[in-house]
Amino acid sequence: LWNAANIIDDSVARVREQVGDDTVLLGLSGGVDSSVVAALLHKAIGEKLTCIFVDTGLLRLGEGDQVMATFAQHMGVNVIRVNAGERFLSRLAGEDDPEAKRKIIGNLFIEIFEEQAKAAGGAKWLAQGTIYPDVIESAGARTGKAHVIKSHHNVGGLPERMDMALVEPLRELFKDEVRKLGVELGLPAEMVYRHPFPGPGLGVRILGEVKPEYVEPLQRADHIFIEELRRDGHYDTTSQAFAVFLPVKSVGVVGDARRYEWVVALRAVETIDFMTARWAHLPYEFLEKVSLRIINEIDGISRVVYDISGKPPATIEWE
Ligand code: XMP
Repeated sequence: LWNAANIIDDSVARVREQVGDDTVLLGLSGGVDSSVVAALLHKAIGEKLTCIFVDTGLLRLGEGDQVMATFAQHMGVNVIRVNAGERFLSRLAGEDDPEAKRKIIGNLFIEIFEEQAKAAGGAKWLAQGTIYPDVIESAGARTGKAHVIKSHHNVGGLPERMDMALVEPLRELFKDEVRKLGVELGLPAEMVYRHPFPGPGLGVRILGEVKPEYVEPLQRADHIFIEELRRDGHYDTTSQAFAVFLPVKSVGVVGDARRYEWVVALRAVETIDFMTARWAHLPYEFLEKVSLRIINEIDGISRVVYDISGKPPATIEWE
């Protein structure tokens, strides 16, 4: 009989047997899988778990503080937060090619993770939030997690480079099971049922070169969109929703003055597997409300557009 409490007991016992008294490192991203691994390992080995949370500065609004509040303050998990926003921005300066940007972000992420692992005194074990679909999925499928494996947090090659053995307690579980475990372990439902977020974060939602001054307006626009989706009950019926910063100036009028300001695109999709997706048919009144708020509340943005492209041919992300 599948029961979250049983699975947890079983995993806790297995992890304890696997790692004994050794310390374990985990790259915590704030996503569902690594969060559930953190909660599970904390239950299994407590102080012996050290999480490294690299704040790339390209996360959603307030996300870094939220991760710290949940894990460090609330649950008492050892979390080292690395505020690396400036490093990411300076490495990204001048680059506008999407794949090059992904590489820069992924490589710097590994670099920082290695530095921190060393500073923490090393560890024999590296925990990862690999789930069953990741295991069976052939490399190359462009789903969220295949990318995560290829290009970000669960970085293929990292364990070998760092000479660490893997702890992967979610390897036999599907996503919905992982979520149930998360709830049972006491993680906030809001975290456990969150839309996926790409490893490179806003680095691929700011089109072209990532300039520091684009980050905050995008975070705030995205936050307004998500807040309104939740308020009107659309969050759980969409699979993924977010704002994209278009470094395009369009003309706007405020009073008698004409201004040239940036454009934000809103994207919301419904999908089962993220391989194909339908754009979410959100009510016009809802879109109007979001657009008004974004334009009124965020300086520098005077136009909002809604993406009505399906996948295929358009991908979910814009880069
Ligand atoms: P696309 O844009 O390929 O996105 O339709 C499908 C899913 O994958 C996520 N995605 C990524 N996730 N690193 C990630 O961790 C990436 O580079 C990446 N690119 C896309 C995207 O958010 C969507 O859920």
